[in-house]
Amino acid sequence: MRKIIIDTDPGQDDAVAILLALASSEIEVLGITAVAGNVPLALTQKNARIICELAGRPDIKVFAGAKRPMLRELVTAEHVHGKTGLNGPEWPEPEMPLQDTHAVPFIIETLREQDAGTVTLCVLGPLTNIALALVQAPDIAPRIQEIILMGGGFFEGGNITPTAEFNIYVDPHAAKVVFGAGIPLVIMPLDVTHQALTTARRIEAFRALGNRSGIATAEMMDFFERFDEEKYGTDGGPLHDPNVIAYLLEPDIYKGRKVNVEIETASELTMGMTVVDWWGVTDRAPNALWIKDLDDDRFFDLLIRRFKSLP
Ligand code: BDR
Ligand code: CA
Repeated sequence: MRKIIIDTDPGQDDAVAILLALASSEIEVLGITAVAGNVPLALTQKNARIICELAGRPDIKVFAGAKRPMLRELVTAEHVHGKTGLNGPEWPEPEMPLQDTHAVPFIIETLREQDAGTVTLCVLGPLTNIALALVQAPDIAPRIQEIILMGGGFFEGGNITPTAEFNIYVDPHAAKVVFGAGIPLVIMPLDVTHQALTTARRIEAFRALGNRSGIATAEMMDFFERFDEEKYGTDGGPLHDPNVIAYLLEPDIYKGRKVNVEIETASELTMGMTVVDWWGVTDRAPNALWIKDLDDDRFFDLLIRRFKSLP
């Protein structure tokens, strides 16, 4: 059983990632921590609870974390995700409670309580909560089994600026803390997530499941894909965040390389760029497994198989 904390800013693709984790018996979700990103924190923490209830898991503990990035003003992405962050289906108001504790002490205490090397952080949004935890309690760094995160782009460039991907751009200083902490990192950048496209056939497969989670997923994708379809001229949009959970479940779907990755925080022009030494032209030590390719049919097969078991 892999123990994980999901740190997230839902977001339709975050929602699908959360559903995949909750549909998988090999994964124990110790808690979900929300962060400001796609939409402000008041909405991301609420959206996380909506998704837990959709999955029939009101027992999951959801914590609210940072309201804004460490140094910069919050940048949001309603232009992609809609006003609520979860546009698409009609959602009921969630009834399950938000935990009283702040996300950062929850992350710290959980890593101190659990056996060292047994908790993985799955990060689907800006890295603010994780960096704050590492700054406040550096002793947790060697206790983290692994951080698997969606963020960055090298071969594909950026999606919020020509050189920066959204999650890293929103809080580049937090990303710098995390990438420099000596923790095993697995990165799901745009290079790979842009190959995981929600084609019409794939969306229909979710709808055809006939359960409420499959139908809501199809409706979320119908809304979410329109922005990138128009931008890139593709059939379907990239389903970014679920790759983090799919990697935990079936890592051999993916191919990558251990490389050095540094975060640009000095230049306004290239702020939040992930500078990847793919060809080993520096003597900087590798600090991350940079995923570059996936078997997209296997990825969507995995999602469909797991979503069958959801309500
Ligand atoms: C990332 O940014 C958000 O819009 C998505 O949820 C994903 O985490 C993609 O750049
Ligand atoms: Ca996200």
